[in-house]
Amino acid sequence: MRRPIISGNWKMYKDINEAIELANAVKRGVFDVENVEIVICPSFTNLSELGEMFVGSNVSVGGQNCYWEKEGAYTGEISVPMLKSVGCSYVIVGHSERRKYFGETDETVNRKIAAVLEEELVPIMCVGETLEEREAGKTLEVVKDQVVGGLRNFQETQLETLVIAYEPVWAIGTGKTATPGQAQEVHAMIRSLMAECFSPAFADAVRILYGGSVKPDNVGELMAERDIDGGLIGGASLKAEGFVDMVKTTSQLYAEKKG
Ligand code: PGA
Repeated sequence: MRRPIISGNWKMYKDINEAIELANAVKRGVFDVENVEIVICPSFTNLSELGEMFVGSNVSVGGQNCYWEKEGAYTGEISVPMLKSVGCSYVIVGHSERRKYFGETDETVNRKIAAVLEEELVPIMCVGETLEEREAGKTLEVVKDQVVGGLRNFQETQLETLVIAYEPVWAIGTGKTATPGQAQEVHAMIRSLMAECFSPAFADAVRILYGGSVKPDNVGELMAERDIDGGLIGGASLKAEGFVDMVKTTSQLYAEKKG
């Protein structure tokens, strides 16, 4: 069975003091959860401190973005070795806000994934359609193109740790969640695409997270879907109680599935 991931994407929220407070509360709240991979992706300025705080705990930290070169004259950019050196084990790549505001394309996503894998960190590749694309009936086509473009030229053996996050753009930060059925449809398509591009075994093992207005009161129904293996959570990850709650709901669901 695929091990679920609950990941908080703190976006551009929390200064260092607020971040420490929130991280401490999360750490206390989830300390006894064993069957869920818990990841916090704070802003770059908070990574080093949080990386240290979570050493030896069941919480990992991740970056929200990276650059693909290891070092160089790239003012303002952060490399994957730098992320690794402050304790990161995951990196979000291709988040829709990066695609929308910062010119991220499938090609840059592809290069960043290569850089993340080279340092043996786990890439969380985000894909998702806009409202316009959904209304035009293009959802599956758009998501398929993003997945194929992001993973171009990789061999299955290189992608063993890959995590995909399906995040419909119209559901991010809007309070409008995809229904479990809408999300499941896209997750199932991505999984069968992975079987086609790589192998059925790879498709069966790859974890596909859902993101977009996940909150404590809808996390259960989403995680109950067959092809949803966790959540990438923005707004609702900024409150410790709610985040802990979502980790525990997921943990319980998976314990029951196993049992
Ligand atoms: P949201 O964001 O949970 O605030 O909708 C999700 C994301 O952007 O990863």
